[in-house]
Amino acid sequence: MRYPRAAESIAISLTFVLLTFSLLLYLGAVSFREVRREEKALGKLELPEPMLKGEMSVEEAISKRRSVREYKNVPLTLSELGQLLWAAQGITLPSRGFRAAPSAGATYPLELYVSVREGGVEGLPAGIYHYDPFMHSLSLVKAGDFSMEIYRAALSQEWVREAPICIIIAADFVRTTSRYGPRGERYVYMEAGHVGQNIYLQATALGLGTVAVGAFYDDQLKSVVGCSEDPIYLFPVGRR
Ligand SMILES: Cc1cc2nc3c(=O)[nH]c(=O)nc-3n(C[C@H](O)[C@H](O)[C@H](O)COP(=O)(O)O)c2cc1C
Repeated sequence: MRYPRAAESIAISLTFVLLTFSLLLYLGAVSFREVRREEKALGKLELPEPMLKGEMSVEEAISKRRSVREYKNVPLTLSELGQLLWAAQGITLPSRGFRAAPSAGATYPLELYVSVREGGVEGLPAGIYHYDPFMHSLSLVKAGDFSMEIYRAALSQEWVREAPICIIIAADFVRTTSRYGPRGERYVYMEAGHVGQNIYLQATALGLGTVAVGAFYDDQLKSVVGCSEDPIYLFPVGRR
């Protein structure tokens, strides 16, 4: 009986490792394609990759941040919309699912919705969309232009109607109160403040304008958005 020499056995082991590695790569690519296909089937819209470097420093954005209530009648791009949503709730540590804004006990009680006016975002039909931070994608909740209904729910504040988009921060309080009891409620509002400031600063750095809107009829807004969580903060955004 002939035993393989050292060189032969190394070559056999290397071929085996290479074959296993190629098989794993192939299976990974297939399952990734499956997820993407499923996303498409579910009507999800992938957003462009967010930028991790911008043209304005954080110090400049802080010093220039102002509440802006007048916007040009010019649509936002899909990249700008994606960048704002990423700054608000994007995943920044995928291994642990941690996000751009802090969250008490990483309970992540907030969900983001965005109302897009007719012609508000280049290439995106009017509607109310839900943001999925994990896939950095949008899914349509309701088709149509609801800017008028949101404006009425927000005590007829002009800037809510005029903005090409309006980001709605909604909260599922139980995610946080089930861990922290009644104190969790205040944590949820604090978290919305962090998210809101990120939206303000990212909008400023992109040359856009926004304003925090806390005045609205809760039930009316919730029924317009069509969400199961409670809307707690609005951010109309547009070009300044
Ligand atoms: C919790 C909260 C709620 C607010 N609600 C509204 C609102 O409903 N409508 C509005 O026009 N501005 C609202 N604002 C924006 C403030 O009016 C604004 O921040 C303030 O005038 C200071 O201006 P600045 O943001 O440019 O520094 C709100 C701000 C905060 C923090």
